[in-house]
Amino acid sequence: SNTVIRASFLHFINDPAKVENIADAYQYISDGLLVIENGKVKSLTPFNDKSADLYPHLEDKRGQLIMPGFIDTHIHYPQTEMIAAYGEQLLEWLETYTFPTEKQFKDKLYAQKISQFFINELLKNGTTSALVFGTVHPESVDALFEEAEKIDMCMIAGKVMMDRNAPDYLLDTAQSSYDQSKALIEKWHNKGRLQYAITPRFAPTSTPEQLTLAGKLKAEYPDVYVQTHLSENIDEIEWVKSLFPEREGYLDVYEHYGLTGEKSVFAHCIHLTDKEWDTLARTKSVIAFCPTSNLFLGSGLFNLDKADEHHVPVGLATDVGGGTSFSQLRSLSEAYKIMQLQGKKLSVFKGLYLATLGSAQSLSLDHKVGNFEKGKEADFIVLDWAATELQTLRLENSNSLQDKLFALMMLGDERNIHSTYVAGKLVYSVAD
Ligand code: GUN
Ligand code: FE
Repeated sequence: SNTVIRASFLHFINDPAKVENIADAYQYISDGLLVIENGKVKSLTPFNDKSADLYPHLEDKRGQLIMPGFIDTHIHYPQTEMIAAYGEQLLEWLETYTFPTEKQFKDKLYAQKISQFFINELLKNGTTSALVFGTVHPESVDALFEEAEKIDMCMIAGKVMMDRNAPDYLLDTAQSSYDQSKALIEKWHNKGRLQYAITPRFAPTSTPEQLTLAGKLKAEYPDVYVQTHLSENIDEIEWVKSLFPEREGYLDVYEHYGLTGEKSVFAHCIHLTDKEWDTLARTKSVIAFCPTSNLFLGSGLFNLDKADEHHVPVGLATDVGGGTSFSQLRSLSEAYKIMQLQGKKLSVFKGLYLATLGSAQSLSLDHKVGNFEKGKEADFIVLDWAATELQTLRLENSNSLQDKLFALMMLGDERNIHSTYVAGKLVYSVAD
């Protein structure tokens, strides 16, 4: 089966921070033709006179912008309903709001209901892939994967491992967390486009025994991901030091238990020491940058330039429910402000790269998704340049591609997402 679309196209080939000439980082085709065959990209070329004859059934979306789907490298689906919970920083926020909410996911039917809502919300916001936390309950992960499988979505998820420092009703044990995670890996990892992530919540909620078994699991299944949190909040870092006095610091805990590496994704990484930056680089570990969460929870300002200097891959993330929006456009507008507060800049090219190819690279998914190279899986979004009167007025006063895209990044959100395609199929669209 064949889908052919005429529109404007933007995608990235390289990290804007790694090219001398920005034109080598992206491709923009103002009148282009995307040909999709069997869910994969067959070609993306400029439209020409012959195209119309060759493809009489082409869909004409001139006036709209097509980009690769956004990728969210860190998000908690069970926290969907508790987004924007008032007033606390990380540790109190977990106790007050997060743990009671996550309790409900023991009920598979409830997990199913929220999984459906969550996936629809991702698609509505133009997000076609995500690395997702479940809860401690294995049923929560079954429910999410079952829903993702229905639309053949590229999703990575895992059951939280947590055997101390949380309410009893949310605790597993070192052994049960190992057994349950292993069973989920056997059941789901590489089933279609689904992959598994070993998910110790963060160092404070795991005993050394649990981290030992998490590391053992990673050694048994090197192809599986690891996802957790790292150096988000000052009190959290002090707490880790008191719980693991024998370790050199927060990241050293994870490294000691064999949890660093190319497919290990550490959310936040705001307050790292120089030695920890070196460790991330040496182990080829990856950072999930969570702008709206870092501001909402008052965690701090992530230093993106430092990650580039150390060649540590960075993906963009919402971290809902610590984050306040599912929209990666909103993540980027907050990322821009985070850089401004540090006297730094975030170009729109770097930003949109982060939301697409950069996140794909950080998750080692770039051989499958992230741009429109031939053979990649056709996950993409159709954007309206202007979704509000204010955006329309702003664009009328814009005369360069870079400025138009910047306005989209700063003012855009889910209202700008007209439709979303996964594996070449339309999975979400606004009513015209
Ligand atoms: N650290 C440990 N658990 C969490 C969580 O659920 N959200 C965030 N933002 N940080 C965490
Ligand atoms: Fe998180």
